[in-house]
Amino acid sequence: MSKPSSEYGASADAIEYHYGTGNDYFALWLGDSMAYSSALWDLDDPEQTLDQAQRAKIRHHIEQSRANKAERVLDIGCGWGSVLFPLADNYKVPSITGLTLSDSQVNWINGLNHPSIEARLESWKDHQPEENYDSIISIGAFEHFTKLGMSSDEKVEVYREFFKKCHGWLNDGGCLSLQTVGYDNALPSSFDEFLATEIFPETDTPFLAEICKGCEHLFHVDLVYNHAEHYRLTLRAWYDNIKANRDACVAEKGEEEVARFEKYLRLCAYMYEVGGLALYRLTLRRIDKPKVW
Ligand SMILES: C[S@@+](CC[C@H](N)C(=O)[O-])C[C@H]1O[C@@H](n2cnc3c(N)ncnc32)[C@H](O)[C@@H]1O
Repeated sequence: MSKPSSEYGASADAIEYHYGTGNDYFALWLGDSMAYSSALWDLDDPEQTLDQAQRAKIRHHIEQSRANKAERVLDIGCGWGSVLFPLADNYKVPSITGLTLSDSQVNWINGLNHPSIEARLESWKDHQPEENYDSIISIGAFEHFTKLGMSSDEKVEVYREFFKKCHGWLNDGGCLSLQTVGYDNALPSSFDEFLATEIFPETDTPFLAEICKGCEHLFHVDLVYNHAEHYRLTLRAWYDNIKANRDACVAEKGEEEVARFEKYLRLCAYMYEVGGLALYRLTLRRIDKPKVW
């Protein structure tokens, strides 16, 4: 199978470098949902578990994109299928497509042979569906669509191309529920060198204004949350899971790799703690007759 193209953001090799480090390893600390993105916590409930908070996040995106009533749903950057399986099993959506650049994730999802689910090793840039979708969900993938070193204008151009494609793939009035890390009180120049080279190569995150510029006249912005504290809590829960399963993690990946992940999770949690990063959840509703294209 040829590798999917990726002209602007993370290449398939850069994605597999991170996400292909072993399904069993990730299963040890992501929890039952296998969701690799910020959960949605009830900040008033100190007893809430990571799995409960991940389920709340998944429900949020399914409801915001109106995928609960959909026939055809696209998940862009589907990971290990944390949204695909609930959509099929709990909401009985008959046709669900997931896109990922990671071979291991495609094999994991398609290996479960669910009749309503198809995972494709394909970038959104190359996706050409045979029919339109009722809903689109994209969680934690937008961060990979551009890379460090691109100017703000260049990033907006890529985001605009992404939103134009989503606009073209959605039926009238269709919704896109988007979740992404963003810069808050930080700059691309302060992107930690270790994270940029050893953890997430060929990756950069957006400013909120860049997202808004990218979707202007294509989508109504119905809802924006910055749930930064939710990502700090999620990172903390993953870190604690590694600590609790450390021997098994080390048996899977070795001491050095596990220590690298611990450092990355701690560093990211710190970035949220000091207000450097945001965690945006946006509900975007298709503008069916854009005034300006
Ligand atoms: C942090 S994971 C999030 C996975 C999942 N949405 C979740 O919440 O568990 C990022 C995902 O984005 C995918 N991705 C990155 N760039 C992509 C692209 N250009 N096209 C499609 N998927 C992409 C990766 O392969 C990976 O599955």
